[in-house]
Amino acid sequence: KIIPLLLAGGSGTRLWPVSRDAMPKQFLPLVGERSTYQQALARVSSPALFAPPIVMTASDFRFFARSQAEALGIDATVVLEPMRRDSGPAIAAGAALARRRDPDAVVLAIAADHVILDQELFEATCAAGLEAAVAGHIVTFGIAPSAPKTSYGYIRRGAPLGPAGVAVVDAFVEKPDAATAARYVADGYLWNSGNFLFGAETLLAELTRFEPEMARAVEGAVEEAAPDLGFVRLDAEAFGRAPQKSIDYAVMERTDKAAVVEGRFRWSDIGSWDAVFDIAPRDDAGNVTSGPVATMDTEGCVIHAEDRLTVALGVKDLVVVTTPDAVLVLPRDRAEDVKPLVARLKAER
Ligand code: GDD
Ligand code: MG
Repeated sequence: KIIPLLLAGGSGTRLWPVSRDAMPKQFLPLVGERSTYQQALARVSSPALFAPPIVMTASDFRFFARSQAEALGIDATVVLEPMRRDSGPAIAAGAALARRRDPDAVVLAIAADHVILDQELFEATCAAGLEAAVAGHIVTFGIAPSAPKTSYGYIRRGAPLGPAGVAVVDAFVEKPDAATAARYVADGYLWNSGNFLFGAETLLAELTRFEPEMARAVEGAVEEAAPDLGFVRLDAEAFGRAPQKSIDYAVMERTDKAAVVEGRFRWSDIGSWDAVFDIAPRDDAGNVTSGPVATMDTEGCVIHAEDRLTVALGVKDLVVVTTPDAVLVLPRDRAEDVKPLVARLKAER
């Protein structure tokens, strides 16, 4: 069975003021009634395919991680990273723990802050990639791109690997510039969705090859990990020696063991309010609303209210977010700019 590895350590500033440092987006019900973390847990809970999950997160989020899993009746191993080192060390530590459970463990690393609709297609994609993963490939799930976004990894497919739709990766390019991204879209590249299926041993061997310092630090941190109120706390001194680097730069851009299978499910990393608009169900007037919201002659808006009645009249294509201590209003096509905005607010305070 596949061991699911959930990455639940990110921050998500572009979804301010709902997503905060102390309560990041993956633990919030931004699309649907459950948080995206809970949606991710449910996504990998079919007992026919998956073993109990391992969750990688920061110490500050440990009680969200455990209680939201318990609410679904899921017994997750929650692993605490002593400091933020990006997805490379997080995935590596999860792989090292999985390998302790089973030397032949196959791991599915998934983001806890994405929305994937079409559960059956998702499971079929996992099943399709499994054979290649067992055979020593690091399989990524590719997504047909809809725009030349610069915030994703791009994958060029090579020769097919067997009948299941899996192909060798000819090139993996993390976050190209805009002109390069446009060329890639025209050339039929896929986006990297950030889901990776691999043998724990394969990943750790590749990491040892490309990032020996990271591999050593992470293996030490797992070796010296201590149980703490039912959590697994990685050793801080060892983990602190791991360079801060994402798995994409640390391994995926460099390995010749990468393979790709196209995921035909609807996918979103709900990175911004505009992305929430794209994936969430719309009402009859074409708005995405949640909480106590009323609209009249309003269309194309995302309106998210935490507790105050929030009403829109005669507006189009806006984002309106109200929380107890902040109100955000902007045109939907400026949604990416919330990140620099929040950085400025932090600097001014
Ligand atoms: N536990 C843990 N610890 N999780 C982390 C950490 C960390 O230090 N840093 C990031 N993550 C989690 C994030 O929460 C997210 O779920 C996932 O790892 C990916 O990290 P992001 O920081 O969101 O990466 P990205 O969006 O810039 O790029 C990645 O995802 C894209 C798709 O959304 C890359 O894999 C791209 O190639 C990909 O296209
Ligand atoms: Mg992301």
